[in-house]
Amino acid sequence: MSSIEVIGGEQLKGELKIQGSKNAALPIIAATILNKGTTVLKNCPKILDVFYMVEILRSLGCIATWDGNTLYIDSTTVTSTKVSDDSVQKMRSSIYFLGALIGRCHEVTIAYPGGCSIGKRPIDFHLNAIKKMNVIQEFEDEEETILHCYTSGITGNDIFFDFPSVGATQNVIMAAVLSTGTTRIFNAAREPEVIELCDYLIEAGARICGKGSAYLQVEGVKNLNGVEFTLSSDRIVAGTYMTAIAATYGEALLTDVPLKNLDSTIRILRKTGCNIDISNDNCKISSVRRPLPIELLKTQPYPGFPTDMQSQLMSILCLADGKSTIMEGIFESRYQNVPELVKMGADIELEAIGNKAIITGVKHLHGAIVDAHDLRGGAALVIAALTAQGTTVIREATSVERGYEDICRDLNSLGANIRFCSENVA
Ligand code: EPZ
Repeated sequence: MSSIEVIGGEQLKGELKIQGSKNAALPIIAATILNKGTTVLKNCPKILDVFYMVEILRSLGCIATWDGNTLYIDSTTVTSTKVSDDSVQKMRSSIYFLGALIGRCHEVTIAYPGGCSIGKRPIDFHLNAIKKMNVIQEFEDEEETILHCYTSGITGNDIFFDFPSVGATQNVIMAAVLSTGTTRIFNAAREPEVIELCDYLIEAGARICGKGSAYLQVEGVKNLNGVEFTLSSDRIVAGTYMTAIAATYGEALLTDVPLKNLDSTIRILRKTGCNIDISNDNCKISSVRRPLPIELLKTQPYPGFPTDMQSQLMSILCLADGKSTIMEGIFESRYQNVPELVKMGADIELEAIGNKAIITGVKHLHGAIVDAHDLRGGAALVIAALTAQGTTVIREATSVERGYEDICRDLNSLGANIRFCSENVA
C-alpha cells in the first residue's frame, strides 16, 4: 500500500484551483443510466471513486471515455443489470446504481454494501422507500448478501424519511424520474450534491421541484435526453485546503471555490481565528495566530456543519489555545483519527455519551508514523503533519486518493514539503 510523507513546518502560500466535486460526480455518473443518450460531464475529478463508478458503467454496457477532466458517457445501450459484488465492496457509492438501474431497466441485482471504518452504513432507508414504489426486493442467496430488485413498473408514492439521508434521497429521485405518477419526498436531504443531481436530471428533461428543500416532488416522465453538464467544485476539498492553510499560519488564494455551499465551514473556520476574505468564486485564507478553541462543534445534515469536515477541524483544534468539544452527529465511528493524532502528541479524549471528542490544545505536534483509516481522516492527518515538527508518514494513503485528485501536487504547489511514496514505510 502507498503512503504520504510530510516534513512539517512550511507555511502554505500561493494560489490553488479547487477540483470538481466527488460527491456530485458519483450519483450523476450513476444517473446517466437513466437517459438513453450521451452525457458530457465537465470538471469531473479524476479520483479513484470516479474510476470505480466508470468501471461499473462499462460493465453494464455503457461507453465511457475521458478527455482531460471531461467524461463522455454513452448510455444508449445497457446490457446488464448486475452490479458485481467486487464493485460494491470496493466502493459503497455503487449503491447509486440501485436507483438508476431500477429506474431505467426495472431490475437490478446488487450486493448489499458493507459498512466502512466510519460506520455500519445500512441501506434500510433506500430499500424501504423503493419498496413503496412497487419494487419487489428479494435476496438471491441464503447469506442474504445479494439483493435482486424488480418491478413491472415503478409507481410514484409518498416517501417519508426519518433521517435526511443523502444517498437514500438521491436513489429515490433516480427511481422516480421515469416512473408513473408523482413521488413526494418528505424530510429529503438538502445537501448541495442532491441539488446538483436534480439540476442534472432537470437538464435531461426530468420534472423535479423543491430542490434544496426538505420537500421534493418528482413527476415521472417518459424519457430523458442526453445533456452536457458541468460539475461544481468540491466543497470538502476546498474546506480541507482552507484548514491546511490556516493551520500552517499561511496565506493563500483558493480559486473556483463553491462558496455558496461553504457557509457553515467558513463560519467555523473564522471562529478558530483565521481570516477568510471571499469574492466571486475565490477566497483568501490567512492566519497569524494560534487557533482559538471551539466550545462545541456538532456535525449535522446540511446546512449544518458537514461531517466530512469533522476530522479536518479536529486536526487544527489539536493546536488551539484551549479546550474544544466535537460531537459527531452523523456517523457512529468517525473518530478513527484520534489514536493517530495522539501518536503525534495530541491530547484528545473520547466520551461515548454524545459521541464526543474533547480536544485540549497543545503547542505543537510532532512527526510520527500514522495510518489513514478513511478518506477524510487521511486528509486530516496530512493537515496535522503539515503543522508538526519533523517528519510524518501516513500509511494506507490510497484512501486519500479516493477523494483528492492529487493532494501532494496541490499542497506542493502551495509550498508544502510532501510526497507520495508508492511503498508503505515499515
Ligand atoms: C453521503 O453518504 C456522502 N457520500 C458522505 O461523504 C457524507 O458523509 C454523507 O452523505 C453525509 O453527508 C457521498 O455522497 C458519496 P447518509 P451517505 O445516507 O449518502 C445512516 C465522503 O467522505 N443511514 O446521509 O451514505 C448512515 O449510517 C463521504 O465523501 C441509515 O441508517 O450518507 C449515517 O449514519 C463519507 N440507513 C447517516 O444515516 C440508510 O439507509 C447519514 O447517511 C442510509 C443512511
